[in-house]
This record gives sequence, structure tokens and C-alpha cells, in this order.
Amino acid sequence: MRAASVRRRGLISAMLNRRSIRYFSNAPVGEEVAKLIIEAGQRAPCVYQSYSVIRLNDPQTRRKVIELVGDDPPLRAPLILLVCLDVRRTSRTFSLLTEKHVLRTERHPVETVEMLIETAMFMENMVIAAEALALGSVVLDYPLRAPEEFSRALSLPEKVIPLFLLCVGQPAESPPLRPRVPLEFVYHVDRYRDPTEEELQSYLREADEAHNSEGYLRKYGNSDAKYGEHLVQKVSQSKSHEEEASDVQRFFRSSGLII
Ligand SMILES: Cc1cc2nc3c(=O)[nH]c(=O)nc-3n(C[C@H](O)[C@H](O)[C@H](O)COP(=O)(O)O)c2cc1C
Repeated sequence: MRAASVRRRGLISAMLNRRSIRYFSNAPVGEEVAKLIIEAGQRAPCVYQSYSVIRLNDPQTRRKVIELVGDDPPLRAPLILLVCLDVRRTSRTFSLLTEKHVLRTERHPVETVEMLIETAMFMENMVIAAEALALGSVVLDYPLRAPEEFSRALSLPEKVIPLFLLCVGQPAESPPLRPRVPLEFVYHVDRYRDPTEEELQSYLREADEAHNSEGYLRKYGNSDAKYGEHLVQKVSQSKSHEEEASDVQRFFRSSGLII
């Protein structure tokens, strides 16, 4: 089979053309479809299946989220799933197997990485499933940035850690494909090759131009800033970043996630 013809077909084509969708039509996403998407998520490779999702349906529940993070357009999606790292159920299951298990210790880096990776794979499978159903989606990291506030607002029990909102619905926009680093940055054969500084700069320029010509921040951030400026702000060290980091770290630690 030739790669060129495969690119135009089925699943590969859906993956190669996927974009995050942040504006949705009002068409509802029924419970059957929601369950199908979650079931497809569950088919991702897994180790402990240390995740849970909570569908945010009730307008009052949704209002609580908007009160926390502001009225972001994707929060009007017909299907919003709060993706949680479920250390609670995982730890309870381990406890049934043995009293002295790793999640009861202070040190379990392997299990931590595996739990996070499998949760990401679960979420990505749901993203692809949505595409296969001609639905769009976007991942939002609001819960990860304010896990304690989300936990309280949604009355989550201890050790159920809210990480992401996956917003799904029928697309009401058709944005361009967003930039990606060249394949050569990611794919190495036999030995790792550092991209040169010029190559890194060239990609940053390309990404800046692509986002600016899409009007990305105007559309989604209601901002006139250039994308490059936004990136600088996003990754710069600051007092507020430090505060967020220690709040998140403290909440994670108290939830049994040691990072
Ligand atoms: C872990 C993670 C967190 C994200 N958080 C947000 C977010 O909070 N808000 C948002 O608008 N998009 C968010 N996104 C979506 C990215 O902005 C988007 O995937 C990226 O800009 C590339 O665009 P594309 O998905 O259309 O190719 C997130 C994506 C990931 C993987």
C-alpha cells in the first residue's frame, strides 16, 4: 500500500486533518454517542486504567465552571467531559491486591508517569473517536491549572484529580491546520540530531506567521497580541507562575500524585 494514497483515506486522513475546534453548533451530542466516545477512549493502551470522566450536563454545574474560568466559547460545547486522573479507584484496587502497595509510598515515579500517560492516551482516543463521528473537539487545561477549585466546585472525592476538559460537538468553524515542527525535529534514525538554532528560529517564525494569519488570538483570546508575544508570556518565569506551580503541586501531593 502506498503511503500517498493511504493519506487520503479513513482514519489516517481524519488524523492528518484534525484541528482543535472551539466553536460548536447547538446540535446535541446524545448519551449513546458520549458513551461510544468514552468506550473508544477505554480501548487505548493502558496499565491501570487510572482515569475517570465526568460529563458536565447540568447548566448549574456548567455555570460553576464558567464562574471559575470565565466564559470561554468551547465551554458552550454540547458535550463537555472532565477528564480526571483517578488515583482513588486505582489505589483502592491496589489495596485489594496487597496492603503494602506503591501508591501508599512517597516514591512511585514509574507508576505516576504511567498513570498520566494512559490518561493522555485515553483522552486522545476520545479525540480520534470524535473525529470519526464527524465531531470536533478541544482539550482545555483549566482544571490542571486550578485542580483544587475544580475539585471543590464539582464535589470530587479525595484523590480524583481533575486535569482537562474535553469539549466535543459539531464544528461551527473550519480553522486551518495549525503548524507543527518539521518531521525531522521529531523523527531520528539511529542517532539523535539536535536541530540547529536557525532551524528552531525558523520554526518559531513560521508558527508565529501561521497563527497571526489565522487571527488565532483575536478569534480565541480576544487579544491583539502577536502569537510570538503570547508564547513569551506563556513560558516566562513569573511570580504568578510560581504560585500556580506550588498550589498545583500541593494539591497533587495531597491527592497521592507526587510530581
Ligand atoms: C495538554 C493540552 C492542553 C491544552 N489546553 C488548551 C487550553 O487550555 N485552551 C485551548 O484553547 N486549547 C488547549 N489545547 C489545544 C491546543 O491549543 C492545540 O491542540 C494546539 O494549539 C494545536 O492546534 P490544533 O489542535 O488545532 O492542531 C490544549 C492541548 C493539549 C494537548
